[in-house]
Amino acid sequence: MILNLGDICHIAEQHEMALAAFNVPSLEALRAVLDAAEETGYPVIIQHAECHEEMVPLRVMGPAMVALAECSSAQVCVHLDHCEHLSYMREALELGFSGAMFDGSMLPYEKNVELSAYAAEMCAPYNCGLECELGSMGAREGGDDAQNPAAQAMYTNPELVSDFVAATGLDILACSFGTVHGLYRGEPKLSIEILNQIRERVHIPLVMHGGSGVSDDDYRRAIEAGIRKINYYTYGVKYAAEAVLSLVDSARTAGTTLYWHDMTGAAYERMRQDAVRVMTVFANGAAPVC
Ligand code: 13P
Repeated sequence: MILNLGDICHIAEQHEMALAAFNVPSLEALRAVLDAAEETGYPVIIQHAECHEEMVPLRVMGPAMVALAECSSAQVCVHLDHCEHLSYMREALELGFSGAMFDGSMLPYEKNVELSAYAAEMCAPYNCGLECELGSMGAREGGDDAQNPAAQAMYTNPELVSDFVAATGLDILACSFGTVHGLYRGEPKLSIEILNQIRERVHIPLVMHGGSGVSDDDYRRAIEAGIRKINYYTYGVKYAAEAVLSLVDSARTAGTTLYWHDMTGAAYERMRQDAVRVMTVFANGAAPVC
């Protein structure tokens, strides 16, 4: 069953937990995540990022996401992640997405406000919830420019948050407080103090991007400080690739033939197991919701 982004995050708020928001740019990832949600009984967010267009276009993956979410017994939000072009957001809205992120984090503050407010107007008639970002994580989704000195992270300024929320009409807020997209080169150092200062000013669900690769203890501290949606991708697909490589090694050693469906099956199973673990950690002790 499909839920609006604001409504599903409200459930997380009520249960003082965070929801896992998985990027699912393959049928294996999509099935793994929805099966994990049904198994655990926790609501889930499945998302397609604009930068995944080269892996699989929204016009191909979007209808599959909506169709499988509709017939799932889990509570699911079908979300557009890191959208920088409003025409692309329109495409997702027409497909039936129930959540969308407008990412104006690289824009000057006034432009970010203007376009985020426009995105909120676009989403409203579609009953689609809106996520926006204030501050910037520097490296873009996928982490491939993490070494680029021009892509410096800029932590969210808590002083701007009340104005940003009121001026845009967003439902949930993505914050920059020390996580990065992609692989971590060292231990992530989260500033929970930034989250505390934000929650003192606005009581809305907060979002952690770059959520894979963070320790369970840091997840718990962030959830206790108001994080209600955790975006998770890189480490899950890394584990899936490792499972496929190990399958290939075993087949080579045994001299057996491998087929493509053996590999997609191994990737699916590893991602499903990881999704179950992640959703359980993010639930932070809350009982299953459905
Ligand atoms: P990771 O790939 O670092 O887990 O981040 C995912 C993300 O933030 C998607 O928006």
